[in-house]
Amino acid sequence: MKFSEMIPIRKLLLTVVFSCLAAALLVLQSTSPPVTYLVPEELPTQPPLRTGLSPDELSQVKAAQAKRIALLERECSREHERGFSIRHPTMEEVAKRTSVVEKYNVSNCVVYKAGSSAWNGLLAHVLSRNDLIKTGEVYKIADILRPSKSRLQKVVASKDYIRFVVAREPLSRLLSAYRDRILDISHPSWQAHHFAPLILQYTRGNTYRSEDMFFPNGSVRIMPTFLEFARYVADSPTVSLDPHWKPVSLQCGLCIVNYTVVVHMESFLPDIRYILRESGMERDVDASLLVVNAHKGKGKTEDLLISNYSTLPPELLKKLLRLYSQDFRFFGYDPRYILEKIYPGRKDVLDSLMSVL
Ligand SMILES: *[C@@H]1O[C@H](CO)[C@@H](O)[C@H](O)[C@H]1NC(C)=O
Ligand SMILES: *[C@@H]1O[C@H](CO)[C@@H](O)[C@H](O)[C@H]1NC(C)=O
Ligand SMILES: *[C@@H]1O[C@H](CO)[C@@H](O)[C@H](O)[C@H]1NC(C)=O
Ligand SMILES: *[C@@H]1O[C@H](CO)[C@@H](O)[C@H](O)[C@H]1NC(C)=O
Repeated sequence: MKFSEMIPIRKLLLTVVFSCLAAALLVLQSTSPPVTYLVPEELPTQPPLRTGLSPDELSQVKAAQAKRIALLERECSREHERGFSIRHPTMEEVAKRTSVVEKYNVSNCVVYKAGSSAWNGLLAHVLSRNDLIKTGEVYKIADILRPSKSRLQKVVASKDYIRFVVAREPLSRLLSAYRDRILDISHPSWQAHHFAPLILQYTRGNTYRSEDMFFPNGSVRIMPTFLEFARYVADSPTVSLDPHWKPVSLQCGLCIVNYTVVVHMESFLPDIRYILRESGMERDVDASLLVVNAHKGKGKTEDLLISNYSTLPPELLKKLLRLYSQDFRFFGYDPRYILEKIYPGRKDVLDSLMSVL
């Protein structure tokens, strides 16, 4: 780990394609912050793409990490006092969502809609899985690197491992899941095919004939609105939530895995570079070749959030805030800023919403 400076840098070509809204988030970072933080954050706008971290950036990332880990520990001990009001996943369940890269002593809980395809693409390159890159199946890396429960237990107990989880502002993550997994019919989506009929059945009480529901190629023809999607998610039993929108706290065992790094989607590049550096992976990839594919990243995430969430009645948004309350608290995301824009001038509504966090 500490030999990274001494070993000559072997540069591999590396292309990491971000999902469309991830790119939108990055674009947004240069304009205005989508969220305010419970923990004061000093991270400035996304630094330009280049190799490694400057000493300044490194100390900023370290300071931000120290705060995030301290917050996580604080919230976990608070949770302990409360007697675990929300069910936490078991180590076995967390293992199913984890990738362990033994070569670099790095473990991560794979969170969809929060940079997981970027990370998997990076791993496919580092581990020379050109077969998966060619077929566009880098997500299969997660199957290859999945630890057994007992392996994960050893990783969790080890002081030689970097264990990281990726957090994303929950309202952005949910909207991104809707837009990418349900609304966008330009790519096949298992989630759209499976959930769209269930959502419409639940919200409209209608069961459509298959030929009305789907185009001949299987894409969804009768599209649930964001309001309908949100209602379905808020009213579903948490066990049946799809990993793309299930709260991170219900997937990653934030209080049973001793995470050492919390990556925020909003500072993804410097945070990931920090991990590349600390793990020695930096030797084998050229981080300057991280390419942010912004082909769909137009439009401001904040406007998207406001216009789409404004279609939800307050009682529904309150259910969602309750569902994601641990993700807000454990990762230090404060929705007040965005809620004020969704329900302007409604202090009563705002106070009621904030009371569930
Ligand atoms: C990786 O972890 C193992 C313990 O599981 C340790 O023996 C080894 O030194 C670690 N390697 C690095 C590069 O830290
Ligand atoms: C978490 O890791 C730190 C540093 O390795 C260690 O001091 C602490 O005891 C660990 N906690 C748990 C619950 O494993
Ligand atoms: C499926 O067909 C619809 C309607 O023709 C089209 O808009 C959509 O892009 C197609 N999707 C895929 C994945 O080919
Ligand atoms: C979500 O926001 C986008 C961009 O402003 C807009 O095109 C779309 O109609 C919105 N959806 C809803 C349900 O308001």
